[in-house]
Amino acid sequence: MRVGCVKEIKNNEYRVGLTPDNVRSYVAAGHEVYIQKGAGNGSGFTDEEYQEAGANLLNHAAEVWAASEMMVKVKEPLEEEFKYFREGMILYTYLHLAADRKELDALLKGRMKSVAYETLQERDGSLPLLSPMSQIAGRLSIQEGAKYLEKRFGGEGILLAGVPGTPKANVVILGGGTVGMNACKIAVGMGASVTILDISLPRLEYLDNMFGAGIQTLYSNDSNIEMAVKNADLVIGSVLIPGGSTPKVFKRRYLHEMKPGAVFVDVAVDQGGCGESTRVTTHDDPVYVEEGVVHYCVGNMPGAVPRTSTIALTNATIRYGLQIAEAGLEAACRKNPVILSGINTYAGHVTCRNVAEAFPGEYTYTDLFTLF
Ligand SMILES: NC(=O)c1ccc[n+]([C@@H]2O[C@H](COP(=O)([O-])OP(=O)(O)OC[C@H]3O[C@@H](n4cnc5c(N)ncnc54)[C@H](O)[C@@H]3O)[C@@H](O)[C@H]2O)c1
Repeated sequence: MRVGCVKEIKNNEYRVGLTPDNVRSYVAAGHEVYIQKGAGNGSGFTDEEYQEAGANLLNHAAEVWAASEMMVKVKEPLEEEFKYFREGMILYTYLHLAADRKELDALLKGRMKSVAYETLQERDGSLPLLSPMSQIAGRLSIQEGAKYLEKRFGGEGILLAGVPGTPKANVVILGGGTVGMNACKIAVGMGASVTILDISLPRLEYLDNMFGAGIQTLYSNDSNIEMAVKNADLVIGSVLIPGGSTPKVFKRRYLHEMKPGAVFVDVAVDQGGCGESTRVTTHDDPVYVEEGVVHYCVGNMPGAVPRTSTIALTNATIRYGLQIAEAGLEAACRKNPVILSGINTYAGHVTCRNVAEAFPGEYTYTDLFTLF
């Protein structure tokens, strides 16, 4: 198959869909790879590295789109890329179609076969192409939180680990899933005092077994959250109800009870946020202060560390990408039905139930089995 990868054009997006190592894997499997010149620069991969790996380098995005049967990207295509869509072409990337009607219309009109990273689900319910970004956001949340606790950024002016003779910082983590557990790991590693709250008792048991006496676990309810955040220096919001709206567990009324200069990092902001005082921020302007509490609410945190993010993401995407390239999308789905869950549009039909249901009365869901 002819596999392509263009430079991402979304503002502040430095990740790239294929690394030189990925190119090597596709070429070794007998495929041709087309890369736009400069596509990997933001993640620290040079054109020469791609060339050495066996890629064909092309000057313009239009040439790469035209040469490719499957386009591997990171972010959803933007309007200026819609003109490249054509019948039967495979697009393998994050899509977030439920939030983007124009993109959905363009994919349907172009009769594209689109495979979304965020919906591809393994048999055990895990989301293998989403979890690397949650791991990164979780670990980064403590790094960012530690930074904004510094005085010059409006924070309390404390060191997360303290030093002998000074108190350690109190870190409170709301939601102990992938983001929360990764935040916990870094906070414990930095020597902070950590409390983690979740509504899932099996999850709390797992975290308790994993971190032992190094952390405190609490059942997540209003009074436990209020008690914990009163003494917190850093609060991490990492709550998720899959397929549901994020509960606002971090109440506005807590703010005036908290320490001035405490920091709230709402990682869940990309799903609406778990704080009543949460407003989306960007890497260019990441924080604001409300009632003395510094809020960090960046919706695409992994974008801050594009090299790590690119490598982590492509470590996960390469497996299914190679299967699709090897057999073609339809046969790859027959061999590995997990790939079916990633297909959001196919030949002008919406084939992801959640996407169709996001626009009630406008689109209907079509079962892929009626199309293959
Ligand atoms: N901002 C970013 O750049 C970025 C990056 C990656 C992920 N995220 C977001 O981070 C959030 C968490 O993702 P995840 O992968 O850890 O999800 P996850 O499903 O692994 O974990 C969510 C956890 O929240 C718990 N939970 C549900 N309701 C709760 C409540 N009322 N109180 C406490 N805990 C509760 C669940 O039991 C679960 O353990 C999601 O919204 C995700 O989209 C954001």
